[in-house]
Amino acid sequence: MKSIKLIILTSFGLLAALACSEKKENKENEEVHSTSLSTLSQKETQYYSNGRKLYKTICSNCHMENGAGLGRLIPPLAKSDYLINNRGDLARVLKYGINGPMTVNGINYNQPMPANPNFTDLEIAEILTYIGNTWGNEMGGFSIEEVVKDLAKASAND
Ligand code: HEC
Repeated sequence: MKSIKLIILTSFGLLAALACSEKKENKENEEVHSTSLSTLSQKETQYYSNGRKLYKTICSNCHMENGAGLGRLIPPLAKSDYLINNRGDLARVLKYGINGPMTVNGINYNQPMPANPNFTDLEIAEILTYIGNTWGNEMGGFSIEEVVKDLAKASAND
């Protein structure tokens, strides 16, 4: 009798978990489609959604899920003038980190951002496509070719 109860309880638990994960999946798709992404190609939309997952795991601790940053310590990515004005440097910022004073939307920041040396060119393109096209940012897609070109250009300037 006890074990039957247990089985019933367990299957309820499983059902609840399944229902929840399905909901979450739907919500994710909704969000992808509700952002003003109509200008992105199908491939770029795929980059955006992969980039979103990477962002949540790797970047949101510091820059926050909504891209607002954190006080005077971490600059915002949402509507960041730095992002728009330094498009060609972003691949390098993500891969090698950045250090020293910088001004974002009129506020001075000066904390190190860690490097992510293991990022692939694809992952960088995905994250940039995400942060460049969410929170009201409208930078269009980033291709692997653009990332490769920007990484090469930056290291040649060192
Ligand atoms: C440990 C905290 C931390 C993490 C994790 C982090 N950053 Fe940063 N990021 C910073 C700080 C601090 C700066 C400002 C650096 C400076 O002052 O020189 C910065 C600056 C930036 C900038 C340029 C300034 C701006 O706001 O537009 C971009 C773009 C950026 N980060 C993107 C990312 C992305 C994408 C990720 C994930 C791959 C990430 N960061 C992960 C702390 C972090």
